[in-house]
Amino acid sequence: MQYSEKVMDHFTHPRNVGEIDNADGVGTVGNAKCGDIMRIYLVVDENDVIVDCKFKTFGCGAAIATSSMATELIKGKTIWEALEITNAVVVEALEGLPPVKVHCSVLAEDAIKYAIADYLKRSGRPVPFELPEDDDDHHGEEDED
Ligand code: FES
Repeated sequence: MQYSEKVMDHFTHPRNVGEIDNADGVGTVGNAKCGDIMRIYLVVDENDVIVDCKFKTFGCGAAIATSSMATELIKGKTIWEALEITNAVVVEALEGLPPVKVHCSVLAEDAIKYAIADYLKRSGRPVPFELPEDDDDHHGEEDED
């Protein structure tokens, strides 16, 4: 299987790995097929700008590389801009993924959506977008307090 240099770089030196205590939004998604899990933590300022984010995953190399790139891409963006960062954008930034690994990149996109929805809910605001379907039922609730 051929991985680009960027994928290898983000896989061997992933950025933004870790957890954030008192994050403003947490999103967790799982992929039922491979059993991998991804959790994203966001710190959001009063202007809805993502000032920090970290991720934790029990996932394959492609899931690690895409989460690393995705967290780099959403940092400094508003939550609304971050919602535009789809897995296709992340895969392009990584100079491609082997087709059988593209589903792994969806985990990061979905976890970001759940984390943003969690942030909006915690701040008492409506969530004006659809959340992707997920087979996993722990979208960060256990981190809420
Ligand atoms: S194989 Fe499960 S996320 Fe890649």
